[in-house]
Amino acid sequence: MIHYNERENSFHLSTGKTSYIIAIHKNAYPLHMYWGRRVYGDDVMWALDAPYRRYARIMQPGPDEPAYTHEFFPWEYPDFGTGDFRPAAYSVIDPNGDNYSDARYVGYRILDGKPPLEGLPSVNAMPEDGVETLVISLYDEKLRLAVDLYYTVYEKYDVIARHTEFRYDGEEPSYLTKALSVSIDAPQGFDEMIQLCGSALREKHIVRRPIANGTTGFGSIRGVSSHQETPFAALVGKNTTEHTGEAWAMTLVYSGNFSVTADCDPYGSVRVQMGINETDFRWQLTKGSTFITPEALLVYSGEGLNGMSHTFHTLLRERVGRGSWTDKERPVLLNTWEACYFTFDHDHVMKLAQAAKKAGMELLVLDDGWFGHRDNATSSLGDWFVDKKKLPRGLKALADDINALGLKFGLWFEPEMISVDSELYKAHPDWCLHVADRKRSEWRDQLYLDLSRADVQEYIIDSLTEVLSCANIEYVKWDNNRRMSEAGSDLLPRERKGEVYHRYVLGLYRVLDILTKRFPDILWENCSSGGARFDVGMMCYFAQNWASDDTDGTARLKIQYGSSLLMPPVWITSHISECPNHQLGRTTPLSYREHSSMPFNMGYELNMLRMTDEELAMTNEQVKRYKALRRMIQFGEFTRLQDPFDGENCAWQTVSEDGREVLVWYYKPFVQPEEAYLRVFPTGLDEKAEYTDTVTGRVLTGSMIMQIGLPIDWHNGDSFSQMWHLIKK
Ligand code: DGJ
Repeated sequence: MIHYNERENSFHLSTGKTSYIIAIHKNAYPLHMYWGRRVYGDDVMWALDAPYRRYARIMQPGPDEPAYTHEFFPWEYPDFGTGDFRPAAYSVIDPNGDNYSDARYVGYRILDGKPPLEGLPSVNAMPEDGVETLVISLYDEKLRLAVDLYYTVYEKYDVIARHTEFRYDGEEPSYLTKALSVSIDAPQGFDEMIQLCGSALREKHIVRRPIANGTTGFGSIRGVSSHQETPFAALVGKNTTEHTGEAWAMTLVYSGNFSVTADCDPYGSVRVQMGINETDFRWQLTKGSTFITPEALLVYSGEGLNGMSHTFHTLLRERVGRGSWTDKERPVLLNTWEACYFTFDHDHVMKLAQAAKKAGMELLVLDDGWFGHRDNATSSLGDWFVDKKKLPRGLKALADDINALGLKFGLWFEPEMISVDSELYKAHPDWCLHVADRKRSEWRDQLYLDLSRADVQEYIIDSLTEVLSCANIEYVKWDNNRRMSEAGSDLLPRERKGEVYHRYVLGLYRVLDILTKRFPDILWENCSSGGARFDVGMMCYFAQNWASDDTDGTARLKIQYGSSLLMPPVWITSHISECPNHQLGRTTPLSYREHSSMPFNMGYELNMLRMTDEELAMTNEQVKRYKALRRMIQFGEFTRLQDPFDGENCAWQTVSEDGREVLVWYYKPFVQPEEAYLRVFPTGLDEKAEYTDTVTGRVLTGSMIMQIGLPIDWHNGDSFSQMWHLIKK
């Protein structure tokens, strides 16, 4: 997996299908030589003979000679101030105030397995994965700064995990003002960039744009990864499609401010970088201190975007997350939010639970409004004690009554926040993020607790532990409903003020680490006004994620299609809600809403007490159907077939783990007059094998299904959907 070529001082990292090659130039600086489809062979320095680099290479003297140039070369982790003129991977202000770094190669180590990233989440490596980690050590003698580049090779999963660790040994403090996780210089192939952007109610929409001279990039300075952007990018060729062509993709295992940039130089060489956003990042390095960047995951696909997604889905589903839910089928739940918002009492919740049970559901989730005196969004965050007006018998009695019906009980929290109208704020007005003598902006009437503080972390850990221990709570929804402003912390000295955003994230990870280890059997669901923090960092602690507050069956198609570029369907929770839809006012058939949610982690969020008998009977059937198929839906191989961003129609499929069953869904949100005959073209079937279509009873070969396609039924009216279940004979 990791091969060291002594002749050239180069490293060849190979997974099943991919290669990644680094060479040390003049025994001083690591060069990025290659990342892509698996190559065989050893020597690689000849690749620097490209015409525009020849001059630099032949003339290149030793690195200490004044004529040595950093321009033109493809660097692996570029320094700042040396004359490269492209963006550095890191930068350091030394005790004199100079910004210059020159870290040279000092050696390498190859480790069995994968060392943890202290304080940060990262992808697991099991002994049976047989992973290896390459550490390339660099050192800047003047700064007395060690820079270790880490590469863990997941051969079986076709993934390389990368991060950097800094160790400082200078007597006087220096400041790290940039510390990225990835920098890659690619001579060709990166024609376009795909990113996942949007807003609340419109998360993870796909945007694809050309990479041209200069910088193409995006990021977040909202304190969280955000609705607006996702720490993920795929660099693709002009002709890359869902099924063919090349994609070089990367995602960050991180949940705070981040940036992604692609810088194209005049020769068409592109430097792609990803990591913590530089804005307001200034980390003090004192003697003996270390700084660890978040982990980044690198995936190359030669089989289009679906190939990329298959690789991400398998790794993330199997090696990200913790607790006992990772491999288990997720339950069908009823959530009370759209059912009753803040207005409920014990009896009302019980009536909903009874209806849920009758329909075959397995979990009742009590959403916002159960604590303090929270009758709307303006109060009580931080006061994690039950509202006796609504639940006079307390949480235990409610959980017991729900359990007695044969349902699990789950509860909503928003632990990172504080309302000004709360007991907690009265006691600790300094516990929120704030800048002294400045206004405190209340977005959704709330402030952020300052999780960079240990006492605040302890408060959250203790108060949640108390609630989670007081009743049989088997599910938690961890919400987060605002973005950061006035991100200052009382406890940090002047020279550490630029550390608040990152320290916040580290504090959050510490709290999550302790709670999820303390309650490993709870099903933890991540949420942030829907999908504002749906990133791989958070998912290291959670088993599923509320993808969006937009529950409209049509709007969901694009949100889920985009999310599936990176995220496995079992993580993407999708609730069937009532019509007219609460966010968009649109009315769609119940069967369409089922089809929209079913390929993912399906649940319900509506007032079942208002449903007609016919709707209740349909719901009963839906739940039965989902439970029968959910193993393959949640753990099978998901493939996108038709892109709703290209026209509105959408299709995707799931193949069961054993390859014997195929589910295909097609959606046509808006009817068109006199349309061409429509078909959907599944992929990945066994060409000669016969498949029975369980709806029509027709038996067809895999090749016919894939080549001729499945015909879409004639229909009239908007919001049409169709589903096929094919079983191999
Ligand atoms: C935002 C979430 O996304 C919703 O599902 C709901 O839990 C509300 N917050 C509650 O305030």
